[in-house]
Amino acid sequence: MSWVYIEDLGGHIGEEVTLKGWLYNRRSSGKVHFLLIRDGTGVCQCVASVNDLGAEAFAAADHLGQETSLEVTGRVREDKRAPGGRELTITRLDVHAPSIDYPITPKEHGPAFLLDLRHLWVRSARQHAILRIRSEVEAACRDFFHERGFILFDSPILTPTSCEGTTNLFEIDYFGERKAYLTQSGQLYAEAGALAFGKVYCFGPTFRAEKSKTRRHLTEFWMVEPEVAYFTLDEDMQLAEDFVAYIVARVLDRRREDLKVLERDTAKLELATRKPYPRITYDEAIERLKGKGFAVNWGDDLGADEETALSADFATPVLVHRYPAASKPFYMKHDPMRPDLALCVDMLAPEGYGEIIGGGQREDDYETLKRRIVDHGLPLEPFQWYLDLRRYGSVPHAGFGMGIERAVTWICGTHHVREAVPFPRMMERLEP
Ligand code: 4AD
Ligand code: MG
Repeated sequence: MSWVYIEDLGGHIGEEVTLKGWLYNRRSSGKVHFLLIRDGTGVCQCVASVNDLGAEAFAAADHLGQETSLEVTGRVREDKRAPGGRELTITRLDVHAPSIDYPITPKEHGPAFLLDLRHLWVRSARQHAILRIRSEVEAACRDFFHERGFILFDSPILTPTSCEGTTNLFEIDYFGERKAYLTQSGQLYAEAGALAFGKVYCFGPTFRAEKSKTRRHLTEFWMVEPEVAYFTLDEDMQLAEDFVAYIVARVLDRRREDLKVLERDTAKLELATRKPYPRITYDEAIERLKGKGFAVNWGDDLGADEETALSADFATPVLVHRYPAASKPFYMKHDPMRPDLALCVDMLAPEGYGEIIGGGQREDDYETLKRRIVDHGLPLEPFQWYLDLRRYGSVPHAGFGMGIERAVTWICGTHHVREAVPFPRMMERLEP
């Protein structure tokens, strides 16, 4: 018998097929049992009657626990009323393994309970939709860069230095001889790649020992980071905008069913496929915030509330550029017209989702960069290789990083980044 995935049933109407999956739910009218079977690609209603199944199998089917693994064979029928529009009239049912007292039932559960059972929670419909969209976003990131001739340039995870400041660095004992750190960003290595290949991107897990328990912070998250030689801030912003518009369009195109499960307002998402996105300077952002009654001063960091208030003015993501250099990492190039500003950009997602992208132009002058490393209290020795990039054929270059979980959370319209990754790592959570 031919084994078919539920998402492919449309091509098998009238045929006899086998589904291999798990029992999602069931109900019975007495005469007929309705078994909802899921196989990871979808859910299919399977109809079992005593005539088709035989008395013994029919009676057993009424006692199967939720998430029992099983295999069914039957004929595919189109049925508008059935979930997914198709139904299987089954003639055979084989149980692989039982599932007794499955802990996640269709009733409401609290987030702590579900996070403890994350290994099972990922079987639920909403989590399926979110994680499928994540998978689409990641595929779209790769396609976007490959279509444009970027080379994937993987960066190391164990590093001898910090990239984004030392306050949230995970430290590791490296063979009892020295310290190593979990990377906060692949950027510094991507810069070496850009000067070798012209345009590259790295894509991998990054780590921040964040002591903040907000809905936007994970301690381990995935970041995609392009880096381009001869790029300035303007071209970098253009790339970021093209990139995000592409990803959103791709999800709208291929994951509409999942967005529907999440009850996402897709009209709002459609707006993010329209370019250009507005660009405002940090100076202007501060003025806007003051106008809204925020007690902010020039030089202040923009927190979650400020970002939400700013993005409320726009229907698309907004690019905020040229922040005060003093609060930014050592590698950022300062604006020659206004040396107190960094040539950097943050992209803020609409609807209060805050920063999804951070990036900018890098300092490319050897002496200036060396001074910055010292001024930031960082040791020079481990940065010699990085300084080499300014010693041998330095060029202007720029890039950015997009946090996958932040982007996915916004696209899905869900509340917390913890649902946008299969196994979230947070200050208070290392399990399962
Ligand atoms: O703004 P960040 O810190 O920028 C960098 O790391 C640069 N080196 C990137 C580059 O230019 N190549 O981080 C970039 C993005 C943020 O905009 C956010 O989306 C995400 O990474 N991010 C986090 N996501 C989840 N949890 C956290 N703790 C995050 N910190 C940053
Ligand atoms: Mg940032």
